[in-house]
Amino acid sequence: MPVMESLDTKTISSIMIIVVLGLASCELGSCAVVQFIFGDSLSDVGNNEHLTKSLARASLPWYGIDFGNGMPNGRYCNGRTVADIIGDKMGLPRPPAFLDPSLTEDMILEKGVNFASGGGGILNETGSFFVQRFCLYKQIELFQGTQELIRRKIGAKAADKFFKESRYVVALGSNDFINNFLSPIYSDMYKYSDDGFIDYLMETLDNQLKLLHSLGVRQLTVFGLGPMGCIPLQRILSSSGGCQDRTNKLALNFNKAASKLLDDLSSTLPNATFKFGDAYDVVADVIDNPYKYGFNNSDSPCCSFGNIRPALTCIPASTLCKDRSKYVFWDEYHPTDRANEMIAKEIIRKLGFLHVNSTGNGSPSPAPATAPPLAPPLAPAPANAPSSKD
Ligand SMILES: *[C@@H]1O[C@H](CO)[C@@H](O)[C@H](O)[C@H]1NC(C)=O
Ligand SMILES: *[C@@H]1O[C@H](CO)[C@@H](O)[C@H](O)[C@H]1NC(C)=O
Ligand SMILES: *[C@@H]1O[C@H](CO)[C@@H](O)[C@H](O)[C@H]1NC(C)=O
Ligand SMILES: *[C@@H]1O[C@H](CO)[C@@H](O)[C@H](O)[C@H]1NC(C)=O
Repeated sequence: MPVMESLDTKTISSIMIIVVLGLASCELGSCAVVQFIFGDSLSDVGNNEHLTKSLARASLPWYGIDFGNGMPNGRYCNGRTVADIIGDKMGLPRPPAFLDPSLTEDMILEKGVNFASGGGGILNETGSFFVQRFCLYKQIELFQGTQELIRRKIGAKAADKFFKESRYVVALGSNDFINNFLSPIYSDMYKYSDDGFIDYLMETLDNQLKLLHSLGVRQLTVFGLGPMGCIPLQRILSSSGGCQDRTNKLALNFNKAASKLLDDLSSTLPNATFKFGDAYDVVADVIDNPYKYGFNNSDSPCCSFGNIRPALTCIPASTLCKDRSKYVFWDEYHPTDRANEMIAKEIIRKLGFLHVNSTGNGSPSPAPATAPPLAPPLAPAPANAPSSKD
C-alpha cells in the first residue's frame, strides 16, 4: 500500500533523525570548537575556590561584583578575564573550571575546560607560598586525564579530531617572577641571574608546549606579560610609588624570548599554529596616560582597605573606588574588567583572530598574515559607560 509505505518511510526517517540527534554529534565527527585554558589567577574561573587549602582565592566579595549576579565566581577581577573576552569575541563558549563539581564529559565536549589556577606558574616551584595551586605541568597532567575521559566517551578517532580542532590558551609567567624569582622566600632568586632565569623559563615552556603538541594540541596562543613592575603591589615597594624598572625589563625580556620560542615552534612542529600575543605596550601607555583612555587612576587598586597597603586581597571590609571603569587595577595584582577588555582587544588585533563558527565544521579560520585594522583598538570608553555586566 503506497500510503503505508510512505508512512513507514516517514517513521523510519524520524527515528533516524532522533537517533542521529541523540548521539553526541561528536561521535559523527562534528564536535563544537571549544577552548582549553591553562593559566594563573588572570585566567582562573574557579579552580582555586575548590582548592580549600589555597591561600590564593577570590572567594569573597567584592570579587565578581560586575559579573553575572555579582557574587564571587572565582575570577580575580570585578568582571571578565582577558580569556573570557577573547573567547566571547571569537564566538567560543566559556569553558568551566576543571574543579567545577558539575563538570561532565558532555559539558567538556560542549564548552572545553579551564585549568587555570591562581598562584600557578610555568615552574613547579612557583607560588609554593600559596600552599595549593596547579602549576602548568600539573594542568597539563589534568588535561591528559580529560583527554582519556573523552576518548572513552566518543572513541579515539573522534577525540583526536576534537582535540586537534580545539583552541588552546597558555597564559602564565607573572607568578614565576612576582611569586618566585623576585621574592626572597624562594631559592630561584639566589640561583639565577635575570637572563639565566628567563632562559630557564623558556627551556621549561619549550618542553611544556612540545608536550602539548604531542598530545594533539595544534592551535595555541600564549599570552605575554604586561608591565608587571607597575602593578600596585610593585609600586608600593618604592618610596616614590613609581614602577619597578627591573621588573618591567624582565617582563619585556620574557615577551621577547617567548615570541621567538613560539615562532620557532610554529615553524618546526608539524601542523602547529602556535602564536604569541602580548599587550605590553598598550598597557604601559594606559598606565602613563590614563586620561587619554578614559581612566582616572592607574597606580592604585580600586578595592583597598583604608591605608593598609599592600592588602593581599580584596576583602569584604575593603572599600571600592567610586567608578570601577575608571581604574586600571582592581586589586594589588589584577586589572579591572575594563583594562582586561583593552588587553583582549589588543591581542585580537595583533593576532588577527576571527570569529569561529562553532556550529560549523570546526575548520579553523586562517589568520591573515597581517592583522586587519579592526576597530580602533583602544577607543576611549564614553565617560558614562556602564561598568560591563556579564
Ligand atoms: C613538575 O611537576 C610534575 C607533576 O605536576 C612532575 O611530573 C614533574 O616531574 C615535575 N618536574 C620537575 C622538574 O620537578
Ligand atoms: C598534519 O596534517 C596532515 C594533513 O591533515 C596530516 O596528514 C598529518 O598526519 C598531520 N601531521 C601531524 C603530525 O599531525
Ligand atoms: C578623577 O579623580 C579625581 C580625584 O582623584 C576627581 O577629583 C575627579 O573628579 C575624577 N574624574 C573623573 C572623571 O572621575
Ligand atoms: C555557521 O556555519 C553554518 C554551516 O556552515 C551556517 O549555516 C551558520 O549560519 C553559521 N553560523 C554563524 C553564526 O556564522
